[in-house]
Amino acid sequence: MLAYESAGTGPAIVLLHGFPLNRSIWTEQRECLSARYRVILPDLPGLGESAPLAETTIAGMAAEVLRLMDHLQVPQFALGGHSMGGYVALALQKLAPERVRGLALICTQAGDDTPEARAGRYATAEKVMAEGTEVLVGAMLPKLFATPDAGAAGEAVAALIRQSSREGVRECLHAMAKREDMRTRLPSISVPTLVLTGQEDRLIPPDRSEGMAAQMPHAVLVKVPNAGHMPMVEQPKEVNQALERWLELVY
Ligand code: MLT
Repeated sequence: MLAYESAGTGPAIVLLHGFPLNRSIWTEQRECLSARYRVILPDLPGLGESAPLAETTIAGMAAEVLRLMDHLQVPQFALGGHSMGGYVALALQKLAPERVRGLALICTQAGDDTPEARAGRYATAEKVMAEGTEVLVGAMLPKLFATPDAGAAGEAVAALIRQSSREGVRECLHAMAKREDMRTRLPSISVPTLVLTGQEDRLIPPDRSEGMAAQMPHAVLVKVPNAGHMPMVEQPKEVNQALERWLELVY
């Protein structure tokens, strides 16, 4: 079973973190949304306190989230995912559309990897196995925030990356490399959808979010100024407001 945290009571919202992070990235959202909702924050397989799966795939991660929701006896929920968590959210929506009342896709994309990106992930996985997760701090941190010097927020995210295990990171990289192209599914997703991006996201550029929102019949696109790939940490107030407006449509 996945490790998780649950705060508040009311209609359920599940938030899935990105790579190579863990559930603590949603602290500001938990604080705000738990006044009206039950906020459920899992650690995805291989990250945080959750063990890796025997062979991790994005669909396998989605199945684990569903197993957790069965265990918590939550039949339906609003589902948000950041970056890799967005890949898992789209896979879960495919696996069990009847369980998902609304979808929030945050700094993520529906397409799969190019062959070059895929090869890059396998190479990074090998490097992390050989040298440790510090490799990722150097490679990712400069691209995560809108401002190069992210100060305390940057330090906090670097600490989360360092906490991740080599094996968990390898499994996630392999899962992302093998993920399915979900683009053709987008027009069939008819629940209230929030597509949110940082205006200065350099990891998954805002045009990916624009493209997704244009394909989804009930999508609202929000571009957060002065935010890069980590808007929930960089501009938590704006992100919380967007999530609250979306949840009003969902419930
Ligand atoms: C993430 O932030 O979850 C990852 O960087 C996404 C990716 O590498 O595709």
